[in-house]
Amino acid sequence: MGRKLILDVDTGIDDAAAIILALSHPDVEVLGVTCVSGNVHVDKVIENTLRVLKVCDRLNVPVFRGADSPIIPHNREPAFFHGNDGLGETDWDEEIDTSVVQSEHAVNALIRLVNMFPGEITLVPVGPLTNIALALKIDPEFGKKVKNVYIMGGNYKGIGNVTMNGEFNFHSDPEAAFISLHGLSNINIIPWETCMDAEIPWASYDKWMSADTQKSKFVERITNYWVVKRDFRNTRAGIRLCDLKAMVACIDETAILEKKKVYATIELCGAVTRGQMAVDWRAHSTETPNVTVVTKLCTEAVALLFADALS
Ligand code: BDR
Ligand code: CA
Repeated sequence: MGRKLILDVDTGIDDAAAIILALSHPDVEVLGVTCVSGNVHVDKVIENTLRVLKVCDRLNVPVFRGADSPIIPHNREPAFFHGNDGLGETDWDEEIDTSVVQSEHAVNALIRLVNMFPGEITLVPVGPLTNIALALKIDPEFGKKVKNVYIMGGNYKGIGNVTMNGEFNFHSDPEAAFISLHGLSNINIIPWETCMDAEIPWASYDKWMSADTQKSKFVERITNYWVVKRDFRNTRAGIRLCDLKAMVACIDETAILEKKKVYATIELCGAVTRGQMAVDWRAHSTETPNVTVVTKLCTEAVALLFADALS
């Protein structure tokens, strides 16, 4: 049995890639996938997640329904960066049977599993942190019982992707991000700018697609929305797939080329900066460092690991 992982997802296109990698890696045991509203509503997230599990032939992995809205709900329009279905507006031939979803709530499942295997579970949250924050509120020891955490979210240079300085996952539920950063232990953050700086070259993407497997065809269909319909192939140096990068950082420590342990928190009150991660790079505060921020990733490692996963 490999490393025990729980994936917390809002399945969009890059979440799907991260799930595929985790399910395909020989050293990983996925104990469950907890779903949260983010890229799309949690019910659509569940459907998308099951579709990913199905293409990996792993419908035996338990899927849990989690929070359907952030801790402080807002009525912003969804960004639909992944298309209005979250998976690139793909036409599927097959319906998905959502009756296989567990009846247990995602937050209860997180608490149960972490208490069943204290000190053994790695969490990989790649959506808004609502489920994780709720678990921390219900079980105050939750954070200490997790082995380590790899979060895709936040920013460290103040560059945003949904507002001028807000990254989608943290900005979608700033309170949850705050609770998580101050309540979890052994936190690794793969922020937005690190992902921007590590675009995976199109040549690697083409190699992925040449695998000609069920999984590669699936990834080709969902990424087509970005690569072709939104013309990223001609406007970007490569494909980003942020959540896949967080999963790579989790699975292969050597893919992390630069990182620093620092104190970081979330801005909750700023009229403009709400949801931004504030990082104490120069140790101005007396606070104990609480996160390791990954600032450089090896794109070659991402390309190779995912190629193996798709083959
Ligand atoms: C994050 O936002 C979502 O749209 C992606 O799935 C990723 O988790 C990047 O900011
Ligand atoms: Ca995501």
